Amino acid sequence: MLSKKLLNIFVMAVFLFISSSSLLAQHKYVGAKKCGMCHKSAKIGKQYKIWKKTAHAHAFKTLQTKKADEVAKKAGFKTKAAETPKCLKCHVTAYGVDKSLLKHSFKPKDGVQCESCHGAGSDYAKMSIMKSTSKSVAKGLKIYDHDKAKIKAMCVTCHNSENPTFKGFDFEKSWAKIKHYIPKKK
Ligand code: HEC
Ligand code: HEC
Ligand code: HEC
Ligand code: HEC
Repeated sequence: MLSKKLLNIFVMAVFLFISSSSLLAQHKYVGAKKCGMCHKSAKIGKQYKIWKKTAHAHAFKTLQTKKADEVAKKAGFKTKAAETPKCLKCHVTAYGVDKSLLKHSFKPKDGVQCESCHGAGSDYAKMSIMKSTSKSVAKGLKIYDHDKAKIKAMCVTCHNSENPTFKGFDFEKSWAKIKHYIPKKK
């Protein structure tokens, strides 16, 4: 009897250890402004400035509009759009992740940010790592190898009929509106 109890305690302890250490090992979200510190100049390709002008940068603000509240109501939700988890999950980055994984610099109101598509940046967003593609990828950076099928597969995790305003997704046209390559790599 006693040994069974001890075994249970041991199993619990191992479980707690694994779950807490995996949270510690997870990359944290730093927010688009941090990426923008380096990804602003013409030389690197102005990714921050390009993103700022896309619909993604105001995806949260969209949820604060009357129109969004009407969409939410029609879809059967009783809460305002900007407070409805089913809307937030596509309209902001890192919605629903453990708070400990959000750095102070991370702002949900900045909508669909770099890290929705490139992965949480706390461990790769430094010069010593970013200069190397392989090191960055090892620290959590997601890239898509200029593979249209891979890119599209990522887009349609949000651009799909779960979105109550969905009218179809034309990948080529949409990508042309938001692409932001590094000039020398094009
Ligand atoms: C300290 C400066 C700095 C910060 C902060 C930074 N980057 Fe970078 N990043 C760079 C440099 C430099 C390169 C390499 C550019 C080159 O190859 O010419 C790069 C390359 C990249 C690439 C291309 C990788 C490849 O090899 O194909 C991506 C994608 C990227 N960064 C995304 C981000 C994201 C997302 C963030 C924020 C989470 C971020 N970066 C923050 C400096 C930075
Ligand atoms: C995390 C979810 C998410 C991902 C991933 C995502 N999007 Fe979006 N996208 C949105 C949301 C939400 C909006 C609506 C923003 C608004 O109008 O407030 C949007 C709007 C857009 C728009 C403007 C509306 C339009 O149809 O002209 C374009 C273009 C776009 N996305 C392209 C892309 C492309 C290309 C990809 C993949 C490379 C992509 N998106 C990946 C969530 C996402
Ligand atoms: C599966 C991801 C997803 C979910 C869930 C989602 N959206 Fe969106 N939303 C998008 C995308 C992507 C767009 C961009 C354009 C498009 O494809 O319709 C968008 C666009 C919008 C727009 C702008 C439409 C326009 O024509 O200007 C509004 C408003 C909106 N969403 C409200 C909501 C509300 C309210 C909810 C929750 C009830 C919600 N969305 C849930 C992905 C989503
Ligand atoms: C909606 C998804 C999405 C968002 C948001 C987004 N990116 Fe990207 N980014 C991509 C995709 C997809 C590629 C293309 C890759 C390819 O062709 O392999 C890319 C390419 C890049 C590259 C160039 C890599 C190259 O090979 O030239 C850099 C640098 C980069 N992104 C940085 C950023 C930064 C910084 C932000 C935020 C300010 C950001 N991205 C926001 C999806 C996104």
